[in-house]
Amino acid sequence: MSADPRVSIHPDSSVLLAAIAARLITKLVDTQDKYGDATIVLTGGSMGIGTLRAVGDSPACAAVDWSKVNVWWGDERFVEAGSPDRNVLQARQALLDRLPLDPARVHVPGAAGEFATADDAAADYARQLADAAAREHVADYSDSRPDEPGPLPRFDVLLLGVGPDAHVASLFPEMAGIRETGRTVVGVENSPKPPPSRISLTLPAIKSSGEVWMLVAGEDKAGAVGLALAGAGTVQVPAAGARGRDRTLWLIDAAAAAKVPGNLLRKEPASA
Ligand code: 6PG
Repeated sequence: MSADPRVSIHPDSSVLLAAIAARLITKLVDTQDKYGDATIVLTGGSMGIGTLRAVGDSPACAAVDWSKVNVWWGDERFVEAGSPDRNVLQARQALLDRLPLDPARVHVPGAAGEFATADDAAADYARQLADAAAREHVADYSDSRPDEPGPLPRFDVLLLGVGPDAHVASLFPEMAGIRETGRTVVGVENSPKPPPSRISLTLPAIKSSGEVWMLVAGEDKAGAVGLALAGAGTVQVPAAGARGRDRTLWLIDAAAAAKVPGNLLRKEPASA
């Protein structure tokens, strides 16, 4: 089961990032109240990294018990560990290095230099996910999620940016990764966006998350957003397939919302 998309539109990207940060802090605090810990899946791009900066700028940042937050990435560029292209490095610089995270809860996809190929790093990341799932004792939990391609820990909130071509994570239109159903993680070669080698969660792994938040700003994204929300095919429009089990939230600015189908725009209550 996955949740139909809901759309929340903010006037511009800076208001949007502040609103996303406020929601995210609340989500993490609420989840920790429920489970004791919380698991977030991060993304790169200007919205993913901007969100982390906005969380750090918020006075409520310290309301989260960061020592009990599990951190994963939805995708990573397969480059050297010290490359400024690494989503992990950008996230550390934007926020993570300033938080009292437990290093054992921060799960980093492998880099070039550590693994020969993106496929090897993807297999290692899938193993990290399987180990975390085992630690959570999710055998019964997995049994109740037969649509999943392999063992996965509980993801509470998974963040995604959307490319102008409607890619999410490193799942690009018409490429092998977006068609993958048998694995939790894939290596991606010949990405249309540089760098060419990447590691990505697959769509079934993304859809295992309780909540999936799509973070999108800018008029160059309006076409992709419109197609995704109109229910286009997932192979052509990967963003159309990204959904959470309980909630799928599109957090977008007015420019990116220009082509949102009218039935998804919030209606004003009828006046009495
Ligand atoms: C990458 C980027 C990319 C990005 C989207 C959305 O790996 O090349 O991370 O996938 O997340 O294109 O980008 P924005 O957040 O900048 O809109």
